[in-house]
Amino acid sequence: MAATHLPRPLVRATGFDRMLAPVHRWIWRDAERRVQKLLRFGETETDGGRDILRAAEVTPDPLLRRLYLVHAIDELRHGVMFRRRASALQPASSPSSSSKPRFQADWLAPGGHGLDDLKVDEESDYAMLAFLHLSEKAAASRFTVYRDVLQDDPPTRAVFEEILRDEVFHMNYTYTQLARVSPQRHRRYLWRARFSRLWKGYLRVATSLAGVIGGVLLTIQYFVLLPPFAWLAKRAERHDPHGWTPIPPARPDSLNRQY
Ligand SMILES: [Fe+2]
Ligand SMILES: [Fe+2]
Repeated sequence: MAATHLPRPLVRATGFDRMLAPVHRWIWRDAERRVQKLLRFGETETDGGRDILRAAEVTPDPLLRRLYLVHAIDELRHGVMFRRRASALQPASSPSSSSKPRFQADWLAPGGHGLDDLKVDEESDYAMLAFLHLSEKAAASRFTVYRDVLQDDPPTRAVFEEILRDEVFHMNYTYTQLARVSPQRHRRYLWRARFSRLWKGYLRVATSLAGVIGGVLLTIQYFVLLPPFAWLAKRAERHDPHGWTPIPPARPDSLNRQY
């Protein structure tokens, strides 16, 4: 919901996100990386908006349908805002290197709503609301840090500031609605969603770590195992005759057979 005249949203970033603020500051400092991050955020916000639109289609609850629609429109608008900001920054960064992916530490703080992990058509409203609440809470926490580290870029900071207001609204309405549709068991749904996110987070970190370890092992193999083979090949090459080798007269039929 566009609300440009509201007071600064009261969101406190989690301890983990605040601890990572220096890393985020370093990541956002690079102009090229800033553009790439904004473009990726634009994509994930738009994807999230589409999923929430689907949730609005399948929910049997009329109030949730209306709220999901407002939510989806917000997310689609966030996507446009991020993309517009990225294009405004694009000329400042080198166009030749814009397609080069750079380290963005996504496994530390993934962008978007994580709705890829959810099959919207098959989930109940309880699971959807619990998942959305936690995702919006995480997004609000991260966007608070991003807004704070982007002091040198007021327009990008203003984009985060505006989006943050919506994320706070999303975070609050999903919790209120979860408590409405499941007054007795809403905490259980939240815990279940928390464990699911934790597990997905573990898999994300483990996959990244496996990639790094694999790269290190292959590099070690390249420098430790390959040199002896290269040395043996060179040694064998010295014993091989150079140039054309005449066919012995006993093999005149060499062109009539395969061997
Ligand atoms: Fe958003
Ligand atoms: Fe949101």
